[in-house]
Amino acid sequence: MSRPVLEVRGLRAAYGRRQVLRDVTFNVAAGDVLTLLGRNGAGKSTTLLAIAGFVPNTQGEILLNGQPLCGPPHARMRQALGLVVKGRSLSGSLSVADNLRLAGVSRKELLELFPEMERRMTVAAGQLSGGEQQMLAVGRALLRRPQLVLLDELTFGLSPSMSRRVVDAVLAQAARDGIAVVAVEQHIHIAERIATHAAVIGEGVVRLHLHRDELLRRAAEIEAIYLGLPVDV
Ligand SMILES: Nc1ncnc2c1ncn2[C@@H]1O[C@H](COP(=O)(O)OP(=O)(O)OP(=O)(O)O)[C@@H](O)[C@H]1O
Ligand SMILES: [Mg+2]
Repeated sequence: MSRPVLEVRGLRAAYGRRQVLRDVTFNVAAGDVLTLLGRNGAGKSTTLLAIAGFVPNTQGEILLNGQPLCGPPHARMRQALGLVVKGRSLSGSLSVADNLRLAGVSRKELLELFPEMERRMTVAAGQLSGGEQQMLAVGRALLRRPQLVLLDELTFGLSPSMSRRVVDAVLAQAARDGIAVVAVEQHIHIAERIATHAAVIGEGVVRLHLHRDELLRRAAEIEAIYLGLPVDV
């Protein structure tokens, strides 16, 4: 079996003296989509931010193709990481065209994925609608041909049709280019639609690793972790 694109082992992260992640461990192979599940405040976003280098107090191993992923966020992005995290993936004061240029993504490529962005090229990213911002962020992150993409609640605040559109674009692009994806999700039914497998975080630890087929069948166990109840695994 070939080596996973992303290996996260014993990841610990803290804000000041508050330890949020105590032992987060998972792998993601090329073309796979891992969804991170867990209740509000479980540490899902912190896991993505720690992998991307935004949480200074982080320990444990993060390997990209067997090599340590380290340094400041921009260095990790150069090392083939794409990021769609609210407030961190776009330059709000720059136009759509300039955001693309910064990421080294051509306008043509974005328009192949999202033709509706054609008339928005000169608008500042911060003035786009939520759906448009997400289309631009997804285009920026995925069209650079990264090996790993981190997505935080991709569909949050989007209409059902826009959610489908953005999710389908991500899945198609990731499958085509063999990108490894880590997608934070709150909702088991969305996770079931997009994931190849899932990890459920509770009390700063991955409490459950599941294959997509098990997600709905084991929803009661997942919910017990959300509620902080003991689970037999
Ligand atoms: N910058 C920060 N400084 C201090 N504490 C933080 C910071 N960011 C997050 N936290 C705390 O860390 C914990 C985990 O937060 P995180 O945002 O990772 O959770 P989450 O699982 O993404 O939750 P949600 O589903 O609500 O987005 C929370 O208790 C939160 O209050
Ligand atoms: Mg979050």
